[in-house]
Amino acid sequence: MDQIKKLTLYYSKEKLALRITELAKEISRSYNSREPILIGVLNGSFIFLADLLRKLRISCELDFIKVSSYSGAQSTGKVELVEDMSVDIKNRHVILVEDIIDSGNTIQFLRKRLLSYGPKSFSIVALFKKKNNAKLDFPIDFIGFEVKEEFVVGFGLDLDQKYRHLDAIYTLNQNFKK
Ligand code: IMP
Ligand code: MG
Repeated sequence: MDQIKKLTLYYSKEKLALRITELAKEISRSYNSREPILIGVLNGSFIFLADLLRKLRISCELDFIKVSSYSGAQSTGKVELVEDMSVDIKNRHVILVEDIIDSGNTIQFLRKRLLSYGPKSFSIVALFKKKNNAKLDFPIDFIGFEVKEEFVVGFGLDLDQKYRHLDAIYTLNQNFKK
């Protein structure tokens, strides 16, 4: 496939699977008997969430929220709600599931919005966090990998809606032009 040649493998599917299993163990331990509701951030988190969910060993529920902020490999800086959750999270233990945190704009927007509904507790799990980018005044409770500040694709993550189907994480080669 032509498009694969433009990409360099960054995290193999085996590495991803191992880390996701560890994250699921940590979350299962922390949320034992609390019946959390996981809120996946669409579209990017859907594959991570599907794998994470199937490794959890606790009773839990699931819903989604959809936002957008990216155009190509650049954040527009403006986060927009595309589709809201369909459950009431008041007094619930909420775990927000994000694919990757870069500037932190998306996660700040979502955190503020979800906290306004009055959950009993709130935490964030992100498969990736780019080093040094986000200046956040709250913790990211569970992080899969801290990554370099390059644009990555695959495993649900896209560039202009492409590459989500790849089962590992790739960086785009430097001479890559859309
Ligand atoms: P932030 O708002 O700058 O933190 O960016 C977060 C959102 O942008 C994530 O939910 C991703 O959907 C997207 N994003 C940020 N960096 C990347 C990347 O390297 N690859 C794919 N999507 C990314
Ligand atoms: Mg996303």
